Amino acid sequence: MQCKSKKLDRILLIPCKVCRYELGEKSISKDAAYQIIHDELLLDSSPRLNLASFVTTWMEPECDRLMLEAINKNYADMDEYPVTTELQNRCVNIIARLFNAPLSAGETAVGVGTVGSSEAIMLAGLAFKRRWQNRRKAAGKPHDKPNIVTGANVQVCWEKFARYFEVELKEVKLSEGCYVMDPDEAVRMVDENTICVAAILGSTLTGEFEDVKRLNDLLAVKNRRTGWDTPIHVDAASGGFIAPFLYPELEWDFRLPLVKSINVSGHKYGLVYAGVGWVVWRSKEDLPEELIFHINYLGADQPTFTLNFSKGSSQIIAQYYQFLRLGFEGYRNVMENCMESARTLREGLERTGRFTVISKDQGVPLVAFTFKGRDTSLAFRLSAALRRFGWIVPAYTMPANLEHMAVLRVVVREDFGRTMAERFLNNLGMAMQELDDEAKGGVVPRMRFTIELGPPARGSGEEATARVVKRESVVAVHRSVSLAGGKTKGVC
Ligand SMILES: Cc1ncc(COP(=O)(O)O)c(C=O)c1O
Repeated sequence: MQCKSKKLDRILLIPCKVCRYELGEKSISKDAAYQIIHDELLLDSSPRLNLASFVTTWMEPECDRLMLEAINKNYADMDEYPVTTELQNRCVNIIARLFNAPLSAGETAVGVGTVGSSEAIMLAGLAFKRRWQNRRKAAGKPHDKPNIVTGANVQVCWEKFARYFEVELKEVKLSEGCYVMDPDEAVRMVDENTICVAAILGSTLTGEFEDVKRLNDLLAVKNRRTGWDTPIHVDAASGGFIAPFLYPELEWDFRLPLVKSINVSGHKYGLVYAGVGWVVWRSKEDLPEELIFHINYLGADQPTFTLNFSKGSSQIIAQYYQFLRLGFEGYRNVMENCMESARTLREGLERTGRFTVISKDQGVPLVAFTFKGRDTSLAFRLSAALRRFGWIVPAYTMPANLEHMAVLRVVVREDFGRTMAERFLNNLGMAMQELDDEAKGGVVPRMRFTIELGPPARGSGEEATARVVKRESVVAVHRSVSLAGGKTKGVC
């Protein structure tokens, strides 16, 4: 196929064929290439109205500028960009201290920057698996059936870890009114093959914090009784940058002795654009040395422990900008504002009398809610109706045991202020009105036409003829909505 795109002109965009799925033979002008892609992207939703996502959609222009300045730096070239490497080390140390790692003054924390919490969790999981295998080998015991105990509410990355790295995931089922892992049940499920229990600080589904303190205490008792040494990992993808600022007294981190590693997404409440996560370990002993690679072909010896090699530097630099710029006070203010907007939303939703809010006051600033009554299709229809106003609000069914529940979730980020919350509630009211009208049989009249297609009329070119043979008004019929299962619908 010949690419005719060079015909395109910045001023005169002639709708000609653009090569989409194979490389065009010829070049086109940079203006035309820009314009074509720019125009297509206009059809994406607006990130600021995407209330499905925890991931940052606004940063200060000064930080945008720093990110652009670093856009051509490969993070892997550590020897060539030592300052960028140093900024990553500063970030790791800041985070480890924020999470109360037992570090003496001047001691270096153990951790690494990743592409997100998913990569961070893969690394933490691998460290647990290797430590457990080493212990089992040393004791002459079988080491081929490792498992992790989690709640059924874990994010899909834990299922990925389990499948990719051959670890069984033993999920504690959720139950009516309890949408997070029950620590008592989790500890009951721990056996000698359990490489760790993973607790979530900020469930993806409802934002609720799991009770890591109770888990630690119960597990300590079991470890003493059995002689096992089962540790805890905390998946603090969202909550890691919330709890230290809003609930400093809450014990969920390295203050608890069995917590050996923690992940957090820099690109969620760390307030950086997509592409950065962190994992920190309690101490050197918790990260087996044999998992660290040492390379020297880019200059000096570089220890690396990541799944990726090359990646951008901008996100690391942006993370350091946020730490430097906001400090503890700034992060606390941002999180308090988010909570305030979440409260406005919650109260507005409750005022309608139509919803049950299932998210808790303490947790990630989000509102998760269900329709009162049994009709699960309503959540999906409301989600679709809100899209017409530009808002993206996911609707999803809960995991095994609670599949009958369809939940809607609005995530509040820094750039979703009070005005946006009020406008959202207004649009939600209109969307609800539409649903109610539809349910009443439809204010919008519906007609059904039966048409008959005929051959093209003589002299009319290629066009077929169409004749209306029947015209009738119909009662509004609701299309049934199929509910997806599994974790495929986990938006984050
Ligand atoms: C609890 C939890 N863990 C892990 C992840 C994956 O994080 P990331 O998107 O940073 O890879 C998410 C994403 O929302 C999450 O909510």
